[in-house]
Amino acid sequence: MLEKDIQEILFTEEQLKNRVGEIARQIESDYAGKEVMFIGILRGSFVFMADLCRAVELPCTLDFMSVSSYGSGTTSSGQIQIIKDLSEDITGRHVIVVEDILDSGNTLHYLLNILEHRHPASVRLCALLERRVKPVELHYSGFTIPDAFVVGYGLDYSEKYRNLPYIGILKPQVYGA
Ligand code: IMP
Ligand code: MG
Repeated sequence: MLEKDIQEILFTEEQLKNRVGEIARQIESDYAGKEVMFIGILRGSFVFMADLCRAVELPCTLDFMSVSSYGSGTTSSGQIQIIKDLSEDITGRHVIVVEDILDSGNTLHYLLNILEHRHPASVRLCALLERRVKPVELHYSGFTIPDAFVVGYGLDYSEKYRNLPYIGILKPQVYGA
């Protein structure tokens, strides 16, 4: 079972659902009368994105991008590459980038720069979790978390644990710390 590798549950399914609902209400009021384009950053955002877009009662479209910065370890390599670009044109669209977690901020800092050059009507950043001081501001932030490696609700360690329905701190011995 995956549970044996979890040290502590940080956010239960219910807490996640409630917070996603609150973010959705904020988005609905900020974008009233507009159409939103959610851009999910694969793969960590897929669960959050699925719940968020179903909670937002506005017309919306979806697209995904995949960026690599971590390999299979637990710390940022600082190297970022676009693995899969968007399928849609974002010119004139109201874009909300959806991320699982803002850590060093490298990923979103780099992406924001790329997306702004494509002339969207607006771009905002949304992350379910954020950890430390970083060079980018989130418009929508779910929770600020302590300095521990977390998994579940889309977030992985070495591609595993994404299917846990809650967010938990991974036992350090799992990644050999
Ligand atoms: P940043 O570029 O340093 O902000 O890294 C963000 C990315 O790192 C996230 O999208 C995650 O894929 C990954 N990441 C950072 N911290 C964690 C964590 O605690 N658990 C799982 N993935 C993480
Ligand atoms: Mg990610």
